[in-house]
Parts: sequence; structure tokens; C-alpha cells
Amino acid sequence: MKQALTLPRLKAMKSQKKLIAMLTAYDHPSAMLSEEAGVDVILVGDSLGNVVLGYDTTVPVTLDDMIYHTRAVVRGAPHTFIVTDMPFATYRLGPEGTLRNAARIMREGGAHAVKLEGGSELSEEIRLLTSAGIPVMGHIGLTPQSVYQIGGYKVQGKSNEEAEKLLQDAKALEQAGAFAIVLELVTEELATAVTHSIGIPTIGIGAGRGCDGQVLVYHDLLRYGSGIRDKKFVRSYANVGDTIRSAITAYVDEVKTKAFPEEKHVFPLDNISVQNISTKLYGGEGK
Ligand code: KIV
Repeated sequence: MKQALTLPRLKAMKSQKKLIAMLTAYDHPSAMLSEEAGVDVILVGDSLGNVVLGYDTTVPVTLDDMIYHTRAVVRGAPHTFIVTDMPFATYRLGPEGTLRNAARIMREGGAHAVKLEGGSELSEEIRLLTSAGIPVMGHIGLTPQSVYQIGGYKVQGKSNEEAEKLLQDAKALEQAGAFAIVLELVTEELATAVTHSIGIPTIGIGAGRGCDGQVLVYHDLLRYGSGIRDKKFVRSYANVGDTIRSAITAYVDEVKTKAFPEEKHVFPLDNISVQNISTKLYGGEGK
């Protein structure tokens, strides 16, 4: 039986140059299928807001949303390492609030670790959480929770100053105790340089081929949704949205034309059921 990754094994994957496949999941079937397919790490991402809950950004996602979905994912993938995003404004609240919220994700949700967006400014929070036994994954580059501050979803680290800051942030996260770092929308050269300069794994999304692993959003990988936009850094391996729409269209059509249900789908009233029903309805008088 598959065993969930442990932090030492995840770290060893970097030194052994074994690439890490991480994928988001938000519910029981997406988690179960990801585990069956051999995903190393499942991320219950706050991209939940965009792809499941229908928001434009991740900002409206709440801690309760994350816990609710994490519980379903944990039930679906009991043998996979599960990381859950701390959503917008549930950390950087001072030590007490941050610790209380992270602990809820672990205790009530059942996640094995949490992920926080931000660089060196999070060092104190990460030290606090890791010293309380809560593993932390970092996330730098494009950090969607700060989209209003950044001014859009654009590639990060293009200027020398930005690149230097990102490198320093990665080192600060490692020093503070993060066990891995997501690099989102970063040039390939910078992501590769970051990967070589730290001892913990980097997991890239839109960060090129030099990272220690990759992460994609479940709905992007499957084109699961309607009108999913093409993104340069995504490869879709199926078109589940189109498949589902065609299936539902066929169902609607068959209901309206009486092609469904057919004879094989119905329960005929045989003698035994007549007897059961009349016993229930008339106390046996109808025999
Ligand atoms: O929320 C999410 O899905 C993420 C990934 C894009 C890394 O943070």
C-alpha cells in the first residue's frame, strides 16, 4: 500500500534528484483519483475560490472553507501527504491568531502541513508554527492573495532588484524552517538559481524546468470547468469540461425525448412487490 510522504523523504527527493509531482484537490473524488494516480503531495489550494466556489480571486476564501474541503480531501487520499493553504488574512495576525488558525487546519481539517504566501516578512510566523510542530510550505513569486497589491497576475522577478529579493526571500523561508517552497510565475533562470541556492525543494508553477517539482491546479490539468482560459504554463491532459457538458446535454435530450429511462432501468411491479406494497399500505388486507 502507498505510504504518505514524510518531510525527511520529501527533502531526500531533492538530493536524489527525484522530481516531486504536486497537484491541487478540493474534494473526495479529486483526492482519491490523485492518490490512485501516484501524486506525491496534494495541495488543498485556496485556488478553491476560483475553480470551485466561483470567485474572481482567492481573497474571499475563508478558514472554514479550507477546513471543510481539507476534510473531504483527507478522506479521499488517506495515504498522501496533504498541504492546506492558509487563506487570506488568517496569518500575519500576531503569533496567537496565526497559531490558532494553523492548528485548526491541522486538527479539524487533518492536513499534514500548511502553506503561507510571502517572503522574509513571514520568518517569525514560520518559526512559531514549526516550533509548535506545524510544518510550513512557503510560496513566493506571484502570490495570488496579494493580487490587488501586485496589480495583476504577472511574471515576477524580472528586474535585478526583484530577482535579488526573491532569492533572499527563499533563503529566509528556509532559515525560518519551511520544508519546501512554491515558486509561482517566475522566470526559469531565476527559479533554477533559487533551486540551486537552497537545501529544501522548490515546487514550480509557471517557473520552468529547473525546480525540484511541479504543481498544477486540478481543474487546469483536466480543463474541468467551462471556458477555462489557456495559460502558457499549463498543460491540460484531458478535456473533462467538454466531456461533462456533452454527457449532460445528451441526458437532457433523452429525458425530453423519452429515450431515457428505458425498460432496463425500471422496476416492474411483480407479484412479490405487489404483496409487499399492499402489506405496507393496507396491513395485509389487499392480499
Ligand atoms: O492555491 C493554489 O492552488 C496554489 C497553487 C497555484 C500553488 O497556491
